[in-house]
Amino acid sequence: MNLTPEFTLEKVRAQFNALHQSYNDLPVTFFDGPGGSQVPESVLEAMVSYLSHYNSNLGAPYFSSQVTTDLVTQARQACQSLLNAPTSDSIIFGANMTTLTFSLSRAISRDWQAGDEVIVTALDHYANVSSWQQAAHDKQASVKVAQINEQDGSLDVEHLLSLVSTKTRLIALTLASNTTGSIVDVAPVIEAAKQVGARVYIDAVHYAPHHLIDVQALDCDFLVCSAYKFFGPHIGIAYMHPKWVQTLQPYKVEPAPELGPARFETGTQSFEALAGLVATIDYLAQWGEGGESLRTRLEQSFAIYNQHESQLSAYFLAKLGSLPQAKLYGRDYADSSARTPTFALTFERLTPTEVAKALGELNICLGAGHFYALGLVRQLGLEDGVVRIGMMHYNTKQEIDRLFEALTELLER
Ligand SMILES: Cc1ncc(COP(=O)(O)O)c(C=O)c1O
Repeated sequence: MNLTPEFTLEKVRAQFNALHQSYNDLPVTFFDGPGGSQVPESVLEAMVSYLSHYNSNLGAPYFSSQVTTDLVTQARQACQSLLNAPTSDSIIFGANMTTLTFSLSRAISRDWQAGDEVIVTALDHYANVSSWQQAAHDKQASVKVAQINEQDGSLDVEHLLSLVSTKTRLIALTLASNTTGSIVDVAPVIEAAKQVGARVYIDAVHYAPHHLIDVQALDCDFLVCSAYKFFGPHIGIAYMHPKWVQTLQPYKVEPAPELGPARFETGTQSFEALAGLVATIDYLAQWGEGGESLRTRLEQSFAIYNQHESQLSAYFLAKLGSLPQAKLYGRDYADSSARTPTFALTFERLTPTEVAKALGELNICLGAGHFYALGLVRQLGLEDGVVRIGMMHYNTKQEIDRLFEALTELLER
């Protein structure tokens, strides 16, 4: 007997109290998923349950400490399934992607020397740029920047490949732009990095809520994401290839563990966030019929999210076609393998901030600015940044209608 519920938007949305609230007597519509997604009740319950019964530290001889120790193991295993990591020992937790990246960059760059080169991209969030610029500066290594294709806000992969040389020590790049939504084909970059013995550090923060990650298929050295972008609490997750887990030398407090992922984790983790993270991955997998395997259930569930998100993108783009005052920076087609449902726009007459503020007064929640994609806004000469409309699988066509009604009214005012 198949007990898996069939995916419907009503069933999805029923799990999020945040989506049903009104504020100042107006309904709320969240289009700021790339800034942080809403959180289902099951995740909140897991966090409250941990804090109200088991709050403790690791390694003490009583029940709640044992539960906490088991929780860390469980969280690493759940993330192993989420990322298809070869072992749960290749999963490292930290405060968020930025903090993890700064910390890992110290260990990764320890043996860099003057003359070495690092490649970053103009498409990336600066968490995956500044950390490498500063690590390179400390070692007198130089940094090269791969440009974007200006006509569709995607990464110019050819340009990136032209920068790779035997001096390249690391390539840091994103799997998807948090601003234009464009997905990057990282396979040729990873291939080129292997040819010259460079390491690859992937930012999957924006990609993770939309597509299921497979670090073994990617064959990357490092990959980072952040659970608050995929319906979970604030916690960063790093995958590190097993060969680096054993051999990199992190900066650590004595007497930190000598082996395994805990070597890279400083201080006490947010155990309540780990409890929430396990529940988040269960939430993500809920539409799968794959029986015992969490990974299979995730694969099936993500196939459904991809289908729905493609429909949202197609609907959004069709509506955008009838709004001549808007300019899109990004791919103008809906295919979910090429873009996430995240759209960067500017408007005639109104600045991005003015548009976002006017919509915010209607509880249509979205942001304006550079979103730390500094290379992108600089290359495109967008001093005021863009308006970003970022949809998640809980968004509906009715919400898109509400957005376009408000935009039309605003632009015709
Ligand atoms: C693509 C991307 N990378 C990195 C980050 C930084 O993530 P965190 O807030 O976990 O440090 C963000 C946050 O917005 C992001 O969108």
